[in-house]
Amino acid sequence: MTMSDRVESFFPDVSAIPEAFRLDGPVVCDQYLVNGELRRWAGPFRDVLSPVCEKTPDGLKQKLLGRYPLMGQGEALEALDAAAAAYDHGRGFWPTLSVRQRIKYVDQFAFAMKEKRDEVVRLLMWEIGKTHGDAAKEFDRTVEYIRDTVDALKELDRVSSRFTITQGIIGQIRRGPLGVVLCMGPFNYPLNETFTTLIPALIMGNTVLFKPPRLGVMLHFPLLRAFQESFPPGVVNTLFGRGQEVVHPLMATGKIDVLAFIGSSKTADTLKKQHPKPHRLRSVLGLEAKNAAIVLKDADLDQAVGECALGALSYNGQRCTALKILWVHKDVAEPFLHKLAAQVSALKCGMPWEPGVSITPMPEMDKPEYLTQLVNDAVAKGARLVNPGGGRVEGTLFTPAILYPVDSSMRAYHEEQFGPVIPVAVFEDLEQPVRYVIDSPYGQQVSIFGTDPAVMGRLVDPLVNQVCRVNINSQCQRGPDTFPFCARKDSAEGTLSVSDALRVFSIRTLVAAKASEANKGIVEGIVRDHYSNFISTDFIL
Ligand code: G3H
Repeated sequence: MTMSDRVESFFPDVSAIPEAFRLDGPVVCDQYLVNGELRRWAGPFRDVLSPVCEKTPDGLKQKLLGRYPLMGQGEALEALDAAAAAYDHGRGFWPTLSVRQRIKYVDQFAFAMKEKRDEVVRLLMWEIGKTHGDAAKEFDRTVEYIRDTVDALKELDRVSSRFTITQGIIGQIRRGPLGVVLCMGPFNYPLNETFTTLIPALIMGNTVLFKPPRLGVMLHFPLLRAFQESFPPGVVNTLFGRGQEVVHPLMATGKIDVLAFIGSSKTADTLKKQHPKPHRLRSVLGLEAKNAAIVLKDADLDQAVGECALGALSYNGQRCTALKILWVHKDVAEPFLHKLAAQVSALKCGMPWEPGVSITPMPEMDKPEYLTQLVNDAVAKGARLVNPGGGRVEGTLFTPAILYPVDSSMRAYHEEQFGPVIPVAVFEDLEQPVRYVIDSPYGQQVSIFGTDPAVMGRLVDPLVNQVCRVNINSQCQRGPDTFPFCARKDSAEGTLSVSDALRVFSIRTLVAAKASEANKGIVEGIVRDHYSNFISTDFIL
């Protein structure tokens, strides 16, 4: 397979784009939020090119969507100062506010955010090539996440709204904020995975700087005013620009208390090392993964194929939870491949707004070239391309390619492709795929397909100690968001779920007093006259 095997058929003429999905532009995003002010940016900009190419007389061209500010070190440090001042060593308005009050601010933001749904969904679709349906799902899932976070915090607060008396000591134990949080989400879920750290960080009383990923930036601009109007000055601040210029200097100051980052382990390691006192930095990281599916010989093949195709190809395989290698028992390998090829061939490739589309153009410009290299490498080493028409490239679009049999000599066996390449390996002895999972540097999830409870049960036990979620006859995934989302080895640090995130962005802190009559009187007085937001028995319904 070479890059010259192109078909020029997927991208539309501009006039063929339905009115409802058109994006007038280019859109100039020239504002940034610092210290409660929406400031106009007059410095350099970065152009945003869509993964969607347009046919022009000069051939295919990525559509220019707009541009956003390339802030520099000075502006980044100013944003950090604003966040630090709003936190004010824990004395600021926001960190000392009652939980009930903070919930009100977050509710107000969620309300304002919902007003911007259409704008955000459309930008999400154009910027990262997510299907319109999936872009809408990402938005709605994020709003739901905010609602669930509020509910989880109310529940947490109810438990904390009482005193405990043990060994003659009265205590009230709550969770308090940690300080200034830097949130950086990934391009594949630029809204959802930024907000699943940003919202819990905020609601727990931290102040926040957030930097969108390099791809997936413009969709945040319609929300800037909602942030500005919903939160007190300095509580939320934005950083737009190159990581080297706007993030590295912040870490070096030592004033970032929590790093919430979804991306590569290389970047995470670099950022952590820049902090002068790494022991003071709490990190919440979502990193690489190479989740495997193990298809046993008694598996329901139709079900396994359906889940594997979905798991490997949803959003073109650009999910950290995607199935990135399929291990299939040799007795069922041929029928499995046959069914998988048929299913994959039936998928519609096209533009993100087309009804029923599955495979869409990808935002990382060099991705088709990289995936082609993976295919060529595997084919040169003895694998075959199973599905006719697989691995074709047109501009930013790559048609899914099933490779079989893949072995350890091939790059596709080891590398996280993060795209629509499906490497299939064959096994006779179950020890082979289990050993693959053990030897992998990654430890996020695995899917196992089979029908014998005895075999499945015995397989689960070693695997749960290698990864953090074993999916039975189901693809790998993060949701539901109330389930813990975590991983071992090089794949993550910390646990995120609606309730775990509240813990990740806070620390237990308490007030204690010997239960003398005098102390009881003081505590009762504080509670009765509402002198403290911390020492309080207020119950949030
Ligand atoms: O990219 C990784 C995402 O957290 C995966 O989430 O399984 O819901 O697609 P998802």
